[in-house]
Amino acid sequence: MTTRREFLASATVAGTSLAVTGGLTSSLRATQPGPTVKNGAGDAHRGPCVIASGNGLRAVERAMELLRQGYDPADCVVQGVRIVEDDPEDMSVGYGGLPNEDGIVELDASVMHGPTHKSGAVGCLRNIRNPAQVALLVLRRTNHCLLVGDGALTFARQMGFAEQDLMTEKSRLAWLKWKANTSKDDFWLDDDQRDPPAGKTWDQDPAGRLSVVDTADVMRLTGTIHCSAVTATGDIAGCTTTSGLSWKIPGRLGDSPIIGAGNYCDNDVGSAGCTGRGESAIVNLSAYTMVMLMEQGKTPQEAATIAAKRMVDKAKEKRLKGPDGRPALGCSFYAVRKDGAYGAASIYDGSFAVADSTGARVLPTEALYSSKR
Ligand code: GLY
Repeated sequence: MTTRREFLASATVAGTSLAVTGGLTSSLRATQPGPTVKNGAGDAHRGPCVIASGNGLRAVERAMELLRQGYDPADCVVQGVRIVEDDPEDMSVGYGGLPNEDGIVELDASVMHGPTHKSGAVGCLRNIRNPAQVALLVLRRTNHCLLVGDGALTFARQMGFAEQDLMTEKSRLAWLKWKANTSKDDFWLDDDQRDPPAGKTWDQDPAGRLSVVDTADVMRLTGTIHCSAVTATGDIAGCTTTSGLSWKIPGRLGDSPIIGAGNYCDNDVGSAGCTGRGESAIVNLSAYTMVMLMEQGKTPQEAATIAAKRMVDKAKEKRLKGPDGRPALGCSFYAVRKDGAYGAASIYDGSFAVADSTGARVLPTEALYSSKR
């Protein structure tokens, strides 16, 4: 599971706290320390395996368990990520995910199935805690690939999913704090505009309500889980599920439900996915890029690292570059090949989870830049 510290660390680079100027080429050649971790050991792996983002240790364990029991790889990855979707402590996915600017949780997810080369996805899905399962039913039960908004919710109802409020007390308070501190020109008092109480107050004590959210929680955050699996016979599936960018404009879709952006697989080649700044994964078709690179002979580690460099190189908008020459965006990249080789990279320090015949573990990604200054 992603710890809050890891979640906020990855969020920091996706948000406003990093500042950068200069492109990838010059910065990597001259001013940057270069990759902090030379990973790549996964390239030598062969045989069935499951990989996921760093918050997916329990997901890869579960998916591998199901893989051994002979389940379709799409079921394995969907049931794996379900654990994280159900976890209120992971504020990047499913139940307890951070909401949009109106305080409503909108979830995106996709599943791609290698053997049929078919995908299913949902976007801006409200009130359903397991969007990956709904996406799998879009894949299996419809002749479509993507349902969004009210249509996705209607479909989920028809499939028998129960509706619920996806906000937890923690995510509600994080949203409220963000909203109140957004601008001094509105009628919500920022924290520094509020007068201290003369004694205990009902809203802070005894429940400690407002005190449970620290200032880091009001940053703009991204978080997601991607999971890819390859069976002993080389069949592949991938799944990406998310609550998307926190405080997003209602209706915003990220990369997770967009096949080729946050999730893609080809049963003849491999599977790949991304977590992080979805807008960048969309314009770079990052998941498709990794699979195409593997088809052209790159290893999974090479494919993931090239996709990370490409994203930085193509970050042309001035908002995505800071004054210190470092990218002001964060994204991680995961790739697994049909034979079981795997790799992961990230723009800043990150982690990924993998399960194979030797067990499940979390490893560092190969990072282009160190988060430490
Ligand atoms: N990668 C998740 C999102 O941007 O929505």
